[in-house]
Amino acid sequence: MTENILIKNMTFKYLAMLKPIFKNVNLNINENWKLGLIGRNGRGKTTFLKILLNQLEYKGSIQSTLDFKYFPSYPNIHNNLTALEVLLKQNPQIDIWQIERELTYMDLSHDILDKSFNVLSGGEQTKLLLIELFLNENSFPLIDEPTNNLDLHGRKIVSQYLMKKKGFIVISHDESFLNQFVDHVLAINKESIDMIRGNVDTWKYEKANADMLSEEKNAKLKTEINRLNDVSKQMSTWGQKRENSTKDASARRLAAKQMKRAKAVKKRTEVMIVEKESLLHNIENVSELKMIVKQPRKQVLFFRDFSILRDGIPLFKPINIDVHPTERFFIEGENGVGKSTLLNFILGVEHLETIGEYRISLPQHLSILSQKNQVDLDYFSLLNQLSTKEAKEEYWHLLYQLGIERSSFSDKSSDNWSAGEQKKVFLANALLGENELFIWDEVTNYLDMFVINQMIDAIKKYQPTMIGVDHNEYFTNAIATKKIELKSF
Ligand SMILES: Nc1ncnc2c1ncn2[C@@H]1O[C@H](COP(=O)(O)OP(=O)(O)OP(=O)(O)O)[C@@H](O)[C@H]1O
Ligand SMILES: [Mg+2]
Repeated sequence: MTENILIKNMTFKYLAMLKPIFKNVNLNINENWKLGLIGRNGRGKTTFLKILLNQLEYKGSIQSTLDFKYFPSYPNIHNNLTALEVLLKQNPQIDIWQIERELTYMDLSHDILDKSFNVLSGGEQTKLLLIELFLNENSFPLIDEPTNNLDLHGRKIVSQYLMKKKGFIVISHDESFLNQFVDHVLAINKESIDMIRGNVDTWKYEKANADMLSEEKNAKLKTEINRLNDVSKQMSTWGQKRENSTKDASARRLAAKQMKRAKAVKKRTEVMIVEKESLLHNIENVSELKMIVKQPRKQVLFFRDFSILRDGIPLFKPINIDVHPTERFFIEGENGVGKSTLLNFILGVEHLETIGEYRISLPQHLSILSQKNQVDLDYFSLLNQLSTKEAKEEYWHLLYQLGIERSSFSDKSSDNWSAGEQKKVFLANALLGENELFIWDEVTNYLDMFVINQMIDAIKKYQPTMIGVDHNEYFTNAIATKKIELKSF
């Protein structure tokens, strides 16, 4: 017998908020679904999972006997467990052959089990934590953004892995990832929640139709409303005139009746306007993102038969690169091949031994975005670093363009902001002022598809020179003018 997660009239609001995040939500989720949970940054996806986990107080009811488990929950770093110990901790009864089978599915070598979990790469840790969740057949995984530490190959492997499983909810902003395996989509929209059968493409198609329909309906309605308004105005002036100009009692009564009708029509149209306007609100508005771009004067990168040496051994097969002004160059390759090392070398952060020839000429004004959000910097501390009023206003304006509500600007800390909202702080910082070269490492992590599209549009418009690493194929395909794949030596 299959179980359902039955959500009835669920309402939830964080204390500090004026409006609830969820209002009278009713949903019926089947335990066998592969459910993709999508929605813009800050809409409440992570909150929804926390509600299922019973970590937040909500109104209404949720019926389910499933044992929900959240990803990511990292083991305590101080326990220094091996990968095997991490897997066994939650699943002590499991046979080693079952673990090895899952490792094979995840394209992980079996000797990873003896390694300390702490030293593993982000991608390897992600894969192991997912295996841990699915080894326990009684648990129902709630997976929050698994792709952030995964390269393209890793994303493919994990999507194939999830295809084999059933009964889970997964949040992701990477549509091509979700489209590989989900069979249902739960979308948190601006004013509503959609549940559909199919994948993100199916949802987008249906949403576009619904948006168009409501816009069309709206346009029709507006014309209709204008006409009715004219009529009712005409009627009332005409009725008024008649009422005033005649002494005849029955004519006056008729005029008064017409007047009443006109008023009723007016009232009805007003109600209709309000109803339809609320529908229109459900359409996402994305403002244009502005970049202030200056081109570097010289060729930025020149590499010939170049590689970086680690203990005398090349990290990756020798490469040839030329990056000229207006070019956007992306470095690809599997986790651990040396993409970030190369970026750091270009930035001159690390002095490293090299082979081959190279010339690096960095312009003065650089926009640098590192892969990880810096933990010691948040919205408010960045704001305080800005010395002029203009710079502060520009920073707020950028955050606003990126979709952060103005009411958040009074926050003294962004500790409670959602993952994407925190990322936007760093993106806004990287967009401040005039820049000649943009060096961006994994800018798309945590950001929703509207922001990614917003960036694509801005980059196409302002044509910045860029050196980047990014695992979001949709993004790099749209903006890269050059790509190189680093291959391990
Ligand atoms: N403890 C909290 N107190 C107050 N507000 C909070 C708290 N936690 C989250 N929020 C706010 O609630 C909203 C929803 O947050 P949530 O983390 O659920 O978003 P999300 O959909 O997961 O976004 P993202 O895609 O960026 O991860 C955000 O506006 C966030 O700033
Ligand atoms: Mg989240």
